[in-house]
Amino acid sequence: MSRFPDDFVFGVAASAYQIEGAWDEDGKGESIWDRFVREPGRILNDGTGDVACDHYHRYPEDVSLMASAGIPAYSLTTAWTRIIPDGLGPVEPRGIDFYDRLVDELLEHGITPYLTLYHWDLPQGLQDRGGWANRDTVDAFVRYADVMSAALGDRVKHWKTHNEPWVASFVGHRDGAFAPGHTDFSEALVAAHHILLSHGRSVPVIRRNVPNAEVGIVIDCRPSVPATSSAADADARRHFDGFRNRWFFDPVFGKGYPRDMVEAYRERGRFDTEQPPFVLPGDLDEIAAPIDFVGINYYTALEVAAGADETEDTGVAPGPNPPDGYTEMGWPIVPSALTSFLKRIHDDYGATDIRVAENGASYSDGPDTDGAVHDARRIEYLRTHLKAVADSIELGVPVTGYFAWSILDNFEWALGYSQRFGLIWVDHETGERIPKDSLTWYSNVIATRSLD
Ligand code: FCB
Repeated sequence: MSRFPDDFVFGVAASAYQIEGAWDEDGKGESIWDRFVREPGRILNDGTGDVACDHYHRYPEDVSLMASAGIPAYSLTTAWTRIIPDGLGPVEPRGIDFYDRLVDELLEHGITPYLTLYHWDLPQGLQDRGGWANRDTVDAFVRYADVMSAALGDRVKHWKTHNEPWVASFVGHRDGAFAPGHTDFSEALVAAHHILLSHGRSVPVIRRNVPNAEVGIVIDCRPSVPATSSAADADARRHFDGFRNRWFFDPVFGKGYPRDMVEAYRERGRFDTEQPPFVLPGDLDEIAAPIDFVGINYYTALEVAAGADETEDTGVAPGPNPPDGYTEMGWPIVPSALTSFLKRIHDDYGATDIRVAENGASYSDGPDTDGAVHDARRIEYLRTHLKAVADSIELGVPVTGYFAWSILDNFEWALGYSQRFGLIWVDHETGERIPKDSLTWYSNVIATRSLD
């Protein structure tokens, strides 16, 4: 395919905590990330999102840079703690004001806002009551979704409830690498369930508030293949896929939790009842609320060997020679796995509208002697992955959009400022922005709807 369809949406993405800064301004409450970054040893080089890209103050410049590049759509996330600072109390009007202004600025520049409600920054006030492990957090989220969709629904039509429920639950509650820093597998399963339930329960609320809303969820995916042709590796790969992908896609698409995984988790002592005790009658129906689209975030794919069936980075062999090398995250570059995963989501779940909600690469290229940022490797990554998307469309998969991660170099969670995913370079000392070659390249793809 040489040309993307006319209604295919090209965009860029970022998230609140990673770019906004202004962590305690205008009534904003403390989030679990504000707390986590202050715990010694959690973040590489003690980085924090206190200032980040200072997007809270510099958003007009950022919107104008996007507009100059002809970016048609921007996927932003809102910080729950700006809106309901402790998660339960009164709404903070200054928080709503900020997103009001941002949305208006985007619309004035001809950029369509796509809004994600949750990108991991739970109010600390809710964490103090058990966070996602506490079922009451579901209703607190639904209230937040209600407030936001009522406030912005006249102008924002594209709504995503959650970003990457696997990361929020497992990296936060099992690995302890992300906030809130717990290391309890059973708790991660409970958190995952409540996150999914809060998704399903807020879908009808958003629809009620937003005329012509499109509502969906973004699920991170990790395609995988068995390391060898042995039966043991095939089985480990099946388990890894259940742990990492099916546990989330299956219930959202109405299939309930995968039976093989329920059995395996029970056998492994993650819960000691026949069925997961945290699933109450009616939950699975609520989680399966009809959605208009599913977003997937794709970065890399893995090989799985026997014994490495619940590990993400260590213990999962990436393969000796991934065909296209690694990004600076150490992630193997495997564009073909994006094509096959998109096809699978269509085939296995009947998804009729799939969007790549995040895809991108970390490379540290900074300003050259000529002052420009020549990030040829990022261009190659984006080109091969957009080609993978085009290939899936050729195969008949209904992929309707692609959002590059990220518009700005930003705070990369536990890795602090050591990784740069931006199409715009940011000097983290001064806040200066320099559009990289990749932004110019992407701008041209958007203008021509073609990779040639
Ligand atoms: C995704 C996250 C995003 C960013 C990229 C690199 O998992 O959603 O915030 O960290 O990875």
